[in-house]
Amino acid sequence: MPDLTEKPRWMMQGITSEPVEEYIYSLLPPRDEVLTEMEAAAAKRNVPIVGPAVGRILHQLALISGAKTVFEMGSAIGYSTIWWARAVGEGGRVIYTDGDRKNADEARGYFERAGVADRIAVKVGDALEILSEQKQEFDIIFCDLDKEDYPRAFRLALPRLRKGGLLVADNVLWSGKVAEKNPTEASTKAIQEFNRLLYSSPDLFPVILPIRDGVAVAVKK
Ligand SMILES: C[S@@+](CC[C@H](N)C(=O)[O-])C[C@H]1O[C@@H](n2cnc3c(N)ncnc32)[C@H](O)[C@@H]1O
Repeated sequence: MPDLTEKPRWMMQGITSEPVEEYIYSLLPPRDEVLTEMEAAAAKRNVPIVGPAVGRILHQLALISGAKTVFEMGSAIGYSTIWWARAVGEGGRVIYTDGDRKNADEARGYFERAGVADRIAVKVGDALEILSEQKQEFDIIFCDLDKEDYPRAFRLALPRLRKGGLLVADNVLWSGKVAEKNPTEASTKAIQEFNRLLYSSPDLFPVILPIRDGVAVAVKK
């Protein structure tokens, strides 16, 4: 068992009981050198990456659905991007987006070292604007932006998703704050609204996986 006394932020205790969460992480096989280095960098600098338990969900969703095109909204240093890129395989395409150029420069270095740079298009700017400019439909759209943007991301993503495609979003349980009756935080209200939109859309079949901070997976009918 790894020593989990010093928990990195990406472990996000709170939704699942701590011993169960630790058990899940203890089962995970070690990651390669690049992902391991990214996890350490994220823990040290508090970069909010999805971490390996959710990284595996993303990877598995792409494998199950045979996805070849992924649009990622909010990519930071590119940790989740690498999980997607490895799953789409050669000939697949992942669009990385982030508003911070420094993040993108750092991510490019990791993509080269991970051997997936040729399947990732790095785009710097507002992910919502970049998505609006896309002409194609995607197999998967992943939402991991500032939480206040989630409802707008939902509205923009739906038409850009192919039939049978997946809309995936991280942090949809927001450390449990989504259960508040009268939230004051704008981020909590936005995620509640996003989850309402998800479950009331006649075009989607959603589930929420209560792993880490909650991952929503919705299939477009
Ligand atoms: C939670 S982090 C992404 C982590 C990444 N998905 C991972 O797991 O490795 C959110 C990132 O989204 C970026 N971001 C937030 N709102 C954005 C927007 N509207 N357009 C582009 N990037 C945005 C932030 O700069 C930040 O790096």
